[in-house]
Amino acid sequence: MTRLKPLVAANWKMNGDRLLAEEFSKSFSSQEFNDVDVVLCPPSVYLESLISKVTANDSAIKVGAQNVSEQAKGAFTGELSTTMLLDLGCEYVIVGHSERRSLFAETSDLVADKYQVALQAGLTPILCTGESDEQREQELTFEVIAQDIDAVIKQSSIAAFTNGVIAYEPVWAIGTGKSATPAQAQEVHRFIRLHLAKHDEEVAAGVRILYGGSVNENNAAELFKQDDINGALVGGASLIADKFKTICQNAQRTV
Ligand code: PGA
Repeated sequence: MTRLKPLVAANWKMNGDRLLAEEFSKSFSSQEFNDVDVVLCPPSVYLESLISKVTANDSAIKVGAQNVSEQAKGAFTGELSTTMLLDLGCEYVIVGHSERRSLFAETSDLVADKYQVALQAGLTPILCTGESDEQREQELTFEVIAQDIDAVIKQSSIAAFTNGVIAYEPVWAIGTGKSATPAQAQEVHRFIRLHLAKHDEEVAAGVRILYGGSVNENNAAELFKQDDINGALVGGASLIADKFKTICQNAQRTV
């Protein structure tokens, strides 16, 4: 099996500032990560300055948003549209992060809408999915993930995964320091690929499936060795340039 080009994305969540954006754009040069897609997702107020900095520094970094509205425009106070993100030069957008699902009541159907509008606009959506501790204990992991993926297939079609990315993020591993083991993650990633293959084998083989949940500079290499892990979505460890760089270097070595 040929390995897919890894993608490592930083999810800063509601952290960071202008200086951090500056530091990241400087420390990632264009040659360094030719074999890995590196995507930074800062808070939306820093998107524009980060994009202009990475462009000015000729950096290979790509920039993404952490969320987007499913609406095109209008009276939706506080929301951002796909058009606005594109206008800034954004290329990626995270949809359905577990914090959006649990704290902002985003349902699988709403997330599927967001995925679709992002894709139609020409952004690359990163669809997050993952089970809670309780769901894992009740052996509902595969069911929960299938539901999130099926919502996208129903809303768009299986072809929607040709230009999108999936991030498996077990809720119990996010921000807890308790990463899934490489074997646990691989099992779920394999499930996701086989689930997609029921609809289209080619799409299933080509989609990048990232792992997220307490990824750091020490555990990344083992995770990236797994057949179906094609990169990572990194929270806490993505706020420190050196740590995040080490994770990207580990992804580079798997190519
Ligand atoms: P973490 O967050 O790396 O801090 O666990 C990952 C995420 O929420 O995307």
